[in-house]
Amino acid sequence: MSRIVAEAHGLQQTYTIRRGWGRAPARLQAVDGVSFRLEAGRTLGVVGESGCGKSTLARMVTLIEPPASGQLQLLGLDAVQPPAAERARLRRAVQLVFQNPYGSLNPRQKIVTALETPLAIHTTLPAAERRERAEAMLARVGLRPEHAQRYPHMFSGGQRQRIAIARALMPEPALLVADEPVSALDVSVQAQVLNLLADLQQQLGLAYLFISHDLAVVRHLSDEVLVMYLGRVMEHAPKSRLFARPLHPYTRALLGSTPGLGREPVVLTGELPSPLAPPPGCVFHTRCPRAQERCRLERPALRSLDGTQVACHFAEESA
Ligand SMILES: Nc1ncnc2c1ncn2[C@@H]1O[C@H](COP(=O)(O)OP(=O)(O)OP(=O)(O)O)[C@@H](O)[C@H]1O
Ligand SMILES: [Mg+2]
Repeated sequence: MSRIVAEAHGLQQTYTIRRGWGRAPARLQAVDGVSFRLEAGRTLGVVGESGCGKSTLARMVTLIEPPASGQLQLLGLDAVQPPAAERARLRRAVQLVFQNPYGSLNPRQKIVTALETPLAIHTTLPAAERRERAEAMLARVGLRPEHAQRYPHMFSGGQRQRIAIARALMPEPALLVADEPVSALDVSVQAQVLNLLADLQQQLGLAYLFISHDLAVVRHLSDEVLVMYLGRVMEHAPKSRLFARPLHPYTRALLGSTPGLGREPVVLTGELPSPLAPPPGCVFHTRCPRAQERCRLERPALRSLDGTQVACHFAEESA
């Protein structure tokens, strides 16, 4: 049985950037046409360099910001303009974990209180029941009962990320959006937290939207991977396919610049263009080793090829 938890079609986000006296404000297209479908128990990895729109996507999916255009459904309901009666249920159904849990945990609040608060907001459970659930969740993420009475500064980075995950899971979401959840951690601790996320997914049937700039990290958990560049989807494929046979030159470059994947090293040449003035045609053409005249002129559509979605005029040559 498959259950669609989230479905997005053509999500776009635009920001208006003020540029000071006498200059017209600029429009920045932070996300330009992202679509995906995510089932319970599955993980969609999102990867790309800094500024490609990963966090913007996370903010739209977690209902922090409405998209400028496009559709988003959560639990089969319209999440862009949800029916008033469903708003609270949808907010509860999708939770966010981000890179720096220290920034999101109140330093003056005991861990048990931090975990109980979402239940106080979202449910009518009595205090004793809330406390019990908070303590059970602490155990579930690998912390000990005595940790409940401590404050955030008394934990290591890895433990704090466990706490942030525990807190996000308290409202029993269907979808967890994790935005660079292990990027601030040492490699050995990264693996522990990734394993925890994998275990929790198995136990709870959670769907994950898992964001990282690091393909090696994304590989750990993902079933499918979406590769973004300057707000656009370059490639979207089942994980095994993407790692075995990447079709987009940008995906190849990312793979080649990630150590430990056993690939020929590739150094991406050229600067990342300004998102305020993205190149015409294919946005990647200024850095693409295979770019030809057509790439400078014509924007490649995202299209299906061998079970992969790819936005490259010359993807057949990689296949
Ligand atoms: N609130 C905002 N106002 C204006 N521009 C924004 C805003 N949020 C993001 N941007 C711009 O949108 C683009 C995408 O930003 P975003 O934070 O989504 O990228 P990212 O992929 O998460 O990057 P990183 O890997 O550094 O976290 C960037 O050019 C960024 O400067
Ligand atoms: Mg980000």
